[in-house]
Amino acid sequence: MARVTELLVNGGWRRVDVAADRTLLSVLRDDLDLTGAKFGCGEGQCAACTVLVDGVATKSCLTKVSAVEGKRIVTIEGLAPEGKLHPVQQAFLDADAMQCGYCTPGMILGAVSLLARAPNPSEAEISSGMNGHICRCGTYPRVVRAIRAAAGKGGRA
Ligand code: FES
Ligand code: FES
Repeated sequence: MARVTELLVNGGWRRVDVAADRTLLSVLRDDLDLTGAKFGCGEGQCAACTVLVDGVATKSCLTKVSAVEGKRIVTIEGLAPEGKLHPVQQAFLDADAMQCGYCTPGMILGAVSLLARAPNPSEAEISSGMNGHICRCGTYPRVVRAIRAAAGKGGRA
């Protein structure tokens, strides 16, 4: 069976030795101890597992690890590498856009990806751009406020 032995995660090459058909989510969590990406539904319906792949929000529960070999993977752990929060993280904190926090890493990475393609989104664009991110705690209005506040503040993806 084909194996994957290296992944580019959060700016560095990480050695792994995993079956090519494993999901990216399971490799991140179980092999690389990057547990920020969450297992929610496991079938593409909640976006709790969202990470960035070449800057694009990607559901890691549906992504085979072989599909991201050599691509730039960013997890929530990689968004503030020098300990300084990414503007979207800061905006979520400032707007109190979390409750239990389970959906929050995926929400933040989804918002980073959204702002990369629409730097100043309207409320309607935020709603449609974040469609699919499920929050059982109902923080949606505060998430929209946070993304509006982060708009135009830049930040890496
Ligand atoms: S865990 Fe991936 S979409 Fe729900
Ligand atoms: S803050 Fe609890 S699921 Fe979103």
